[in-house]
Amino acid sequence: MEKKLVVLSGAGMSAESGINTFRDAGGLWEGHDVMEVASPEGWHKNPELVLDFYNQRRKQLLEAKPNLGHQILADLQNDFKMTIITQNVDDLHERAGSQNVIHLHGELLKVRSLQTPELVLDWTTDLKSSDRNEQGDALRPHIVWFGEAVPEMERAINVVKEADFVIVIGTSLQVYPAASLMDYASDLAVVYYIDPNPAPVAATYQHLKIIPEKAGRGLQMIKEELINWGQIV
Ligand code: APR
Repeated sequence: MEKKLVVLSGAGMSAESGINTFRDAGGLWEGHDVMEVASPEGWHKNPELVLDFYNQRRKQLLEAKPNLGHQILADLQNDFKMTIITQNVDDLHERAGSQNVIHLHGELLKVRSLQTPELVLDWTTDLKSSDRNEQGDALRPHIVWFGEAVPEMERAINVVKEADFVIVIGTSLQVYPAASLMDYASDLAVVYYIDPNPAPVAATYQHLKIIPEKAGRGLQMIKEELINWGQIV
């Protein structure tokens, strides 16, 4: 039977595609205080700033390409039943060919109705405050901001619980509840953590296999071992 591999990816996954991580830049995100551009308070205070910020991120994403790490993960679908749970709002996992991706923190290429959050639209151009959906509703980026609920969390927890192998990759493990997901892995699961600058908390996990490398290189290093184990465990 095919083994289950679950990947928990963070901003470091897309770093080699030229998209900046959050906390490597010293608390600033592309020159902004994170709370100004990624919180309901920031949105109420200055929606134009928030729209402009995500418009820039969307433009940047459309110019970026999946990197070696995204590609290796897509290839691993040949050997495992895979789910990728990502904190990233980009679509680089999908563009590399990964088919089963849960976006914990929303998606940059989607927007939603302010009145009816279930009404979500694909969106690849700039979002303006005057834009409306067919129902006439005003729109906001389909992003989970600080302080907001994480609707995909329950589904993600159930997926992690079932995993035979977990790869945590490119995340500082500072943002909750996402950072707590690895705690749901079974004691029998093999868990890797790939990050060139691993979060100190990782040292407290006894059986964690820490690979202090960038995403692409780290995945290249463990790929064969993982496939071999997947066949025998
Ligand atoms: N390959 C792998 N990891 C890398 C690379 C790379 N090339 N470059 C940097 N990293 C690592 C850093 O060492 C760091 O541990 O990526 C991690 C990025 O951490 P954060 O910037 O904190 O990103 P993340 O953990 O994804 O943040 C979580 O915070 O602002 C919110 O909602 C946003 O989803 C985001 C959440």
